[in-house]
Amino acid sequence: MGGGPAVAPQLGSPAPPPVPPTTAGGFLDSILETKSELFRASREVLRDSYIPSRLPHREQQIRAVAEVLAPALRGDVPSNLLLYGKIGTGKTAVVSQVVQDIQRRAELASHIAFIYVNCGNIDTPYSLLQNIANTFAKTESDRIPTGWSLDRVQVAMRRLMESNGGTVILVLDEIDRLVARSGDGVLYTLSQINTELDNARLVLLGISNDLKFTNHLDARVRSRLNEEKILFPPYDALQLQDILRDRAKEAFRDGVVDPGVVERCAAYAALENGDARRALALLRLSAEMAERDRAKRITPDHVVKAKNRLEQDIILDCCRTLPPHCKVLLYAILQACERRRNGVLTGEVYDAYRRLAERLGLQPLHARSISNYVSELESLGLIRATIVSRGRGGRTREILVDVPISDTMPALEEDPLIAPVGRPHSRGQLLLTNFDNPGRTGPF
Ligand SMILES: Nc1ncnc2c1ncn2[C@@H]1O[C@H](COP(=O)(O)OP(=O)(O)OP(=O)(O)O)[C@@H](O)[C@H]1O
Ligand SMILES: [Mg+2]
Repeated sequence: MGGGPAVAPQLGSPAPPPVPPTTAGGFLDSILETKSELFRASREVLRDSYIPSRLPHREQQIRAVAEVLAPALRGDVPSNLLLYGKIGTGKTAVVSQVVQDIQRRAELASHIAFIYVNCGNIDTPYSLLQNIANTFAKTESDRIPTGWSLDRVQVAMRRLMESNGGTVILVLDEIDRLVARSGDGVLYTLSQINTELDNARLVLLGISNDLKFTNHLDARVRSRLNEEKILFPPYDALQLQDILRDRAKEAFRDGVVDPGVVERCAAYAALENGDARRALALLRLSAEMAERDRAKRITPDHVVKAKNRLEQDIILDCCRTLPPHCKVLLYAILQACERRRNGVLTGEVYDAYRRLAERLGLQPLHARSISNYVSELESLGLIRATIVSRGRGGRTREILVDVPISDTMPALEEDPLIAPVGRPHSRGQLLLTNFDNPGRTGPF
């Protein structure tokens, strides 16, 4: 990779530290002290929170967002704006960049306030309004505490906005989650607040990865929010390559990224919805795989390992967030399949679940609820059901596990709910074994 100062990688130099560390702290110190032979400086460059100065293939969206917001610089009120597109398509990055650009024109932007709220972290309409209002609080006594009525918070928020004056651009990231959680009442309040303000103006900039969420909105809220809309299409493999090349130049020393690495990360991520976050995570993890191998270069094989590891992590995260009875059901299926080294018939699944729930001191759910959970596990890709013929006995469905049993069981056993029936073994060891010997290698 070109660019940046050429730092010759010290090929062939021995890696181990001079004094063998004896404590965990010693190991950590030695890892921290060892300068990475792959990374230039901070690995933050490959993290999600890092916003690069250039966003390739988003020029059109940057211009469109800037055009909508630019009137604010002239003291006019911009239209409300909705950005939508699948995950990892650069929505948040584009907005951050345009906001920074506007804020840089300090003399023009002094009357513009930006408020960024990630609605994924907001539980209630109250906390949303409280957050907005508190950004204008000049003294501690202005701040809105918890426990007021929603009406009182609204009045206080209006008063604070009014006394601050100017244009307030409120970025509501993951706005669809706010609506799913709390309905559209608070959006109604916000979208009509300008009718009650003299000195200040509120502009709403919603970001969503689901456009259909507007179908659930009150017609007035929908039309106000939809004044302008900008689509963020998924990236294709070539676009992802450009994004990754820029980042790799910043992140890695010269010459440590083998040909094919960027291409492979981009190809995998393009298959997964064209998600730039996924592509960057693959590149970062590939470098970490190379470091663990004490390799001097990142190779396409490291990408394959990284992909397997990323998939495993996603599966394990998914298992950990299942509702309790669904976890018990999955564990019962895993136990049955592990014992038989084969699938388990649907008729037997309920019995296995019921026995396990009783052992855990839980009141088993009805068969219908469990059948719904079987469908849910199937749609999550954790299990697969196939029709099997039983001769004269007709046809039935056989449940097969679609995840590595040896990793998934320990992940579920981490849950105090399942722990009492878990087996004593180390998840770390199991993961490492699997990770050194990846089962599936994907399309390459
Ligand atoms: N065109 C691009 N150039 C460089 N990096 C990009 C580009 N698009 C996205 N990224 C990077 O990919 C990651 C994901 O982007 P971002 O968070 O903007 O996606 P998003 O569309 O907001 O996703 P989500 O809907 O999941 O919130 C970030 O690290 C961002 O910096
Ligand atoms: Mg985002």
